[in-house]
Amino acid sequence: MPTEALFRPLQLAPNHVRIAFEDRPLTVPAGVSLAAALLANDVGHTRESPVNGRPGAPYCMMGVCFECLVEVDGQANSQACLIQVRDGMVVRRQRGARDLLIGDADDD
Ligand code: FES
Repeated sequence: MPTEALFRPLQLAPNHVRIAFEDRPLTVPAGVSLAAALLANDVGHTRESPVNGRPGAPYCMMGVCFECLVEVDGQANSQACLIQVRDGMVVRRQRGARDLLIGDADDD
């Protein structure tokens, strides 16, 4: 009498990538937006307002509200809802306004 299982385990989300948020390693499904990955991992707020420090997190998920601004691989003002996760991505909360890189007048 055959004893093989009649059921096979599902391959749940076989493709994952590893990212880091505030030095916390996360394994997230490949192909999702960064904002969705962060929300699914319950990371709390993703930015702090430059006006009053109020915490914010992704809201509209379509590039309109700018509540999802984060720093990605050192690049501030990145809209997490418009960025697809990729392996090795290093993400930090955006705290306040990004620094402006203003060159010297002599640079022109
Ligand atoms: S969640 Fe609104 S712009 Fe990204």
